[in-house]
Parts: sequence; structure tokens; C-alpha cells
Amino acid sequence: MATKIIKCPQCKNKVTVQANPGEKTYITCPQCNTKCVFTFPEEKTIAKTADTSFAIEVEGLVKMFNGFKAVDNVSFKVKTGEIFGFLGPNGAGKTTTIKMLTSILKPNQGTARIGGFDIRTNAIDAKKIIGFMPDVPGFYGEMKAEDVLHFYAEFYKIDKDTRNTKINELFEMMQLEDFRRKKVKTYSRGMKQKLGFCVALINDPKILILDEPTIGLDPQTIHFFRKMFMTLNQKGVTIFLSSHILSEVQEICTKVGIINHGRIIAVDTIDELGKKTMSRKNKKVLITFENITQKAIDAIKKISGIIDIQTNESKKRLEIEIESGKNIIPIINQTLVENNIGVNRIESKEATLEDIFLSLVRKDK
Ligand SMILES: Nc1ncnc2c1ncn2[C@@H]1O[C@H](COP(=O)(O)OP(=O)(O)OP(=O)(O)O)[C@@H](O)[C@H]1O
Ligand SMILES: [Mg+2]
Repeated sequence: MATKIIKCPQCKNKVTVQANPGEKTYITCPQCNTKCVFTFPEEKTIAKTADTSFAIEVEGLVKMFNGFKAVDNVSFKVKTGEIFGFLGPNGAGKTTTIKMLTSILKPNQGTARIGGFDIRTNAIDAKKIIGFMPDVPGFYGEMKAEDVLHFYAEFYKIDKDTRNTKINELFEMMQLEDFRRKKVKTYSRGMKQKLGFCVALINDPKILILDEPTIGLDPQTIHFFRKMFMTLNQKGVTIFLSSHILSEVQEICTKVGIINHGRIIAVDTIDELGKKTMSRKNKKVLITFENITQKAIDAIKKISGIIDIQTNESKKRLEIEIESGKNIIPIINQTLVENNIGVNRIESKEATLEDIFLSLVRKDK
């Protein structure tokens, strides 16, 4: 949905209209009651887009820093309309990949297409259709928040009237109206994140690229951002979300890509990843006790059918992944009894995105 200010053909009064590109809108001038029809122009970017079924197509991206491969032959596709979660441990290469997608960094090899536009040959058109929120939105502290948005609006050559309407809308949407005339240096971290999100939305992007947008925010603000993502996605915006908050990704993402040591180790829906990585529907069992000894853990490890064992720091809980079809819980129980370990509870657990993520990253070592 785009917004335009047009002049009434009769009294020249300015009227705000909203519609999709190419759509006809019937308008009644609030001043002179003249009725007219306005057809929104088709956006140039749509006409030029080569393939709109994929919002982002990444092919063999490589980024080297002084001989170190930070991003190593990364390929994946994000369908138009998807919310795609981009996960990986610290230093895995998420931000570097994002910087290449947004043309901040040039790849050493490979390329990406954003809405069909190749970042090597058509970076400007690609930039026009994306909204980007970096991991640490940087602002000039002496600038007032509304001047920041005017600056970016000018950068995108948004005409003055549309710009004012858009900026009002964004401040209202992000609940920053009362602070719009304050200097950015007086903003809290959460307010800066919100302003960063306003900047990402100033050009009505079709694709939002967000690098850990909710990092360091309080639970209420995280919830607020999450609702914004869902609302924008329902309006057709594709979202590429890098995040460490796995519960958030599990809740809103339709698909995830996992990167480790610069390489993609999985791209799929969370359900499919669960089936594949939790080793073809392997079971997870949680065992809680007062205390466990290394001897008992070693004894359990020897039981046939155990794929992985994790213990928590206080040694009061074991998480055991068991091969599908093996009913070895009684054997585990027996081993614990033999080792004089008093068990408090044994429970089966559904695989969460966190389990999938940890399992994939561990196996990738
Ligand atoms: N400008 C740079 N010069 C040299 N090395 C860099 C540069 N930027 C990133 N790196 C290295 O590239 C690797 C990937 O970094 P990147 O910032 O992409 O990780 P990330 O997945 O975003 O991590 P995090 O979750 O901590 O944000 C790291 O080893 C990092 O040290
Ligand atoms: Mg990062």
C-alpha cells in the first residue's frame, strides 16, 4: 500500500490517497466535494523485477577478511512473503552476509538477487526495495529524531508531502510521537531501536532485512516488535530476520537458515529440520536428579541407541537423545540405580528450535 498527496482538480486542495500501485481510487475532495478517480502509477521496481517468486536468492557468496573466509560459499533462497530466520553462533557470518545483501560490503565471489535485482549489477534498484535495520543502528546524536527520518526520506527522494505523512505515520506506529523533536542522544536504547525500525520502513520496503532487531530490548518491547513484524508480513512484506532469540524465531518464522563458521549447514522449515536433525524423529528424554557422577554419565553413554547426552552446569539434569524405535529408558534407569543415582523425574521432550540449532551446530564441529 502506497500513500500519495494529490491536488483536487477543482479547488486544488491537497488530498491524501492510499492504494496499491496500478489500483484505481475514487476520491471525494473534503473541501469542494468534487469526485474524481486517481490511478496509482505502477512502481518502476515491479516492472523491472525479474522473478518475484523469490525475494532473496543467494548464490555462492564468499567474503574474505585478510585471508580469513568469514562467509564461505553461502547459498539459500527466501520466498516472497516468507519470514525467514537467519541463525548462527556468534561470529558465524550472519552480519557479514547481511552486509553483502544490503551492498555495504562487496562479495569476493558469488552474488545475490534481491527482488530479482543482482547486487553486483543493480545494487541501486535492489536497495530501493529493501528496508534495513543494522544490529547497532547508528545515528548522529545531535540530530532530532524527525530530522533523521527527513534525511532518509530525502535520500530515497520521497516527495515532501508524502514524506510528512509517512513520518507522522511511523512516529505514531512506533509510539515515538512525544519524542520526535528530541535529539537522538537523549534516546534510550529501545527508542533508538524503534527509530532504526522507522528508518527501515521509510521507503515502504517490500523486503525487510533485520540484523538482531530485538537485541537488548525488554520483553514488552520485544513483543511490540514481534507484532510489527507479523503485521507487516500480513501486508506482504518479506522479512529476513537474524536473531539469537530462538523462541522468537520458532514463533514467527516460516523457514530458517543456519550458518556456522561461514557455511550454511541447514535451510528448511522448523518442522522438517526437526525431523531431519533430531535424527529421524529421535526421542529426547529429560532426567532430573539430586546429583550425578561422571561415572554414571560414562555408563549411560555406553548404552546402545544413545545419540547424544548433555548435562547442565549444576549436574542436576541430563538431556539424552535416543535413536528412534529404541526403548532404552528402562536400561538408562537401571544404569542410574546401579550407580546409586536417585532419579527425581524422567520425561520425554518435543524437539524445540533450540534443540535443533544446538544439535546441528554440535554435529558441524
Ligand atoms: N571488518 C572485518 N574485518 C575482519 N574480520 C571481520 C570483519 N567483520 C567481521 N569479521 C569476522 O568475520 C566473522 C563473522 O563475523 P559476523 O559479524 O558476520 O558474525 P555474526 O554471525 O554476525 O556474529 P554475532 O552473532 O556475534 O553478531 C567473525 O570471525 C568476525 O571476526
Ligand atoms: Mg552479527
